[in-house]
Formats: sequence, C-alpha cells, structure tokens
Amino acid sequence: MSGDGLARAHGWPLDHIGVAVADLDAAVARWASLGFGPGRIEDVPGDHIRVAFLPWDAGELELMAPVGPDGTVARFLAKRGPGLHHLAFRVDHLADVLHGLAADGVRLVDEVPRPGSRGTRVAFLHPSACEGVLTELVEAPDGR
Ligand code: CO
Repeated sequence: MSGDGLARAHGWPLDHIGVAVADLDAAVARWASLGFGPGRIEDVPGDHIRVAFLPWDAGELELMAPVGPDGTVARFLAKRGPGLHHLAFRVDHLADVLHGLAADGVRLVDEVPRPGSRGTRVAFLHPSACEGVLTELVEAPDGR
C-alpha cells in the first residue's frame, strides 16, 4: 500500500461505536428506552467482555460490559467509569491495511487481525495515533 497514512480512511464507513458499561442488561434497557434495539448479545471471551450490538441507521452501538476483573474494559471502567470507549470503522483486507499503517509509522495495538464479535476480524489502533480516540478496524466475516 502507498504511504499516505490515515488519509486512506476516506473509504472507511462507520461500523459501530463502542460504549463501556458496568451492567449490560441495565444499559440495554436504558438504550431501548431511547429507541435502540432489539440487539444481539454475545460473549467475547478473548476480551473478557459480554457485548450487545444495537443497530441504528448509521451503524451499530456496541455496549460492552466486563465479565470479571480482567481485561481492558474492566480496567477502563475502574479508571474512568462508563462512557465512550472506541470508534470502529469497516475496512476491506484488514491485514493489508494494518501492514500499510505500520509501514507509515502509525502506532497499532494489534499488528495482525484477531477474532472479534459477530464473526469479524478486528484490530485496534493506539489512541495516540488518533487524537486520543481508541480506534477499531473491522473486517466483515466474508473476508472483504
Ligand atoms: Co468494537
């Protein structure tokens, strides 16, 4: 890939917005009262979280609650409390995108794709690469 860094993001549609919550059922009920949902609930054992994806017109809202004291979401909640956790954009050919970003010196949390929720593959860019915003890239299950 050519070296124009995050300028390539012009082709990345929003996939979801991640919100850290302490109590998943309570958060689902709260967002339902605002008209979100019904959603799908899924365990993501690798990240020590349980998530609910609530669809809306512009993408999905991901509510993430820790399962136990381990994992980054539990640490996030302990440090900051509930709130906006990350933005996630959909990309094609995630491994190639990561390779190009790394070549451009963009700081990555995940240098190779790993399994995400909903059968996707995902990788996170470090917040320091995105003005303090933890940023997730999502590749759809069909490998696109
Ligand atoms: Co996410």
